[in-house]
Amino acid sequence: MSGRGASRRRPPVHGPRAAAGRPPSAGVNRSTLKSNWALLGPPPRFLYSAGWVLIPLRLFLGFTFCFAGLQKLANPGFFDSSNPISIQQQLAGAARRSPVHALVAPLVHVAVPLGLLIALVEIAVGLGALLGLWTRVAAVGGFALSLMLFLTISFHSSPFYTGSDIVFAFAWTPLILAGSGGALSVDALVANAVRRRAGQGPALVVPIPFSMVRDVCGSYENGACLARRGAPCEPTPCPYLIGRSEAPRDPVETEMDRRTFAAQGSLAAGAALMALLGGGLAAGIGRLAGGASAKAGPSALGVTPTTAPPTTTTSPATQAPTTTSPSKTSPPGSSAPAPTTTTPRPRPAGTAIGAASQVPVGGAGSFNDPKTGDPSLVIQPQKGTFLAFDVVCPHAGCIVEYDTAGKVLVCPCHGSQFNSTTGAVELGPAATGLHRLGVAKGSDGQLYVI
Ligand code: FES
Repeated sequence: MSGRGASRRRPPVHGPRAAAGRPPSAGVNRSTLKSNWALLGPPPRFLYSAGWVLIPLRLFLGFTFCFAGLQKLANPGFFDSSNPISIQQQLAGAARRSPVHALVAPLVHVAVPLGLLIALVEIAVGLGALLGLWTRVAAVGGFALSLMLFLTISFHSSPFYTGSDIVFAFAWTPLILAGSGGALSVDALVANAVRRRAGQGPALVVPIPFSMVRDVCGSYENGACLARRGAPCEPTPCPYLIGRSEAPRDPVETEMDRRTFAAQGSLAAGAALMALLGGGLAAGIGRLAGGASAKAGPSALGVTPTTAPPTTTTSPATQAPTTTSPSKTSPPGSSAPAPTTTTPRPRPAGTAIGAASQVPVGGAGSFNDPKTGDPSLVIQPQKGTFLAFDVVCPHAGCIVEYDTAGKVLVCPCHGSQFNSTTGAVELGPAATGLHRLGVAKGSDGQLYVI
C-alpha cells in the first residue's frame, strides 16, 4: 500500500482490536459512499461476496433441473417406446446423428433405466443447487448432464446458441468454481454448526474495504510501515496480510473438516432419498392424472423403434401404388403434390406400418420410418387422405408434434412450425422443412411407407 498524503493524515493504528470499534465506513468520504449506489458504480457491499451474486443462478438452475426430472418421471410417454418423445426414440435418433453416436448406440438397449437415471440425477442436481448442499458436486453433475444432452440432442442447433444445453453447461461453471459461496446454503450452515461445537467462530468470508485494511494495517512508504512505527514493513504481525500457507495445519481444523464432510454427506443422502420419494410420487400422479394427456398424442402404429432399417416387405405380387412419393433427394418442404390415398389399392410395395383405422380423421399416428428408423408421423387431414413426415426437427433434432387444433406441425424445443401438407417451414428457427415420406393404404387396410 502506498499513498503519501493519506499515510500522513491517518494516525497509525495497531491490530484488529483497534479497528473493531470503528464503523466500516470510517475514513470513507460520504460522496464516495453515495456514488456506490449509482447504477454504473460498484455494487452494494454485500454483493462483494460471490455467494449472494450466485443466488439467482442457483434458484433458476435448481428449479429447472428439479422440474425437468419430475416432468420426465410424471410423463408416461417418456418411457413408452412408441411415443415420439420417449427416451427410446430420442436415443435411437442420437445413435444416428450425434457426434458421439458410437457411444450412444449401445445405450439404446438400456434406454428405460438410463431415462430413469437421468431423471433422478436431474432432481438430485436441482436439489443440490437449491439447498446449497454439496453445491460443487451438484454443479459438476449438472455440467456433465448438460454436456451430454448437448452432444446427443442439441449438437446440430444452428446457430449453436439456439440450443439450450450448451448454455446450461456453461451456466453451471460459476457454481463449479465458487460452490454456494456460503450464502443461504446448507453447506455453510453445517460447517458453522460444526465449528460452533468445536468452540470456533463461523467461517465467514467478509469483504473488507481497502480503506479499512489501511486503517488497521497502516501504510508504508520507502519500506517503512507506519503501523509499525517506522519499522521495516513485514506482513507477519499483521493479521490481514499473513499468509495462511505459512501457518501449520491445525489438527482441530482437520477434524472439523472431517465432521463437516460427514454431516453434509448424511444430509445429501437424505436429499437423495427425498428425490427418490418425490420422483416416485410424481410418477404415480403422472400415471393416474396425466395418463389422459399421454393418450392424447398420436396413436402408435405397428412399427417399433429400431436402430437398423428393417427389411422391406415387398412381394413379387405387389402392385405399385398410384400415389405420389416424394423422392429422398427432393428438397425438404418442397411444394410437390402431397401423397394421398383415396382409393385403397392392392397391397402396395413398401413396408406396412400399421392399420389405417388407427389414425383418427384430423389426427395423427406415430411410427418409425422403416428406412432410417427416424420417428415419423402419419396424418389423416380428411377421411382417406394420408400424409407422412419424418418428424426429426431439422433445427436441432427434437421430435416435432402435430397440433390438431392449428393443423400445423410444431417443434416443442424452439417453436419451429411446419406446414402439415408439404412439411415446409412456416416459422423458424428451423431453416429447412420436414422430410415427407410416401404413404399408401392397401386394400388390406394397412398403411405402407413406400
Ligand atoms: Fe429447435 Fe426444433 S429443435 S426448433
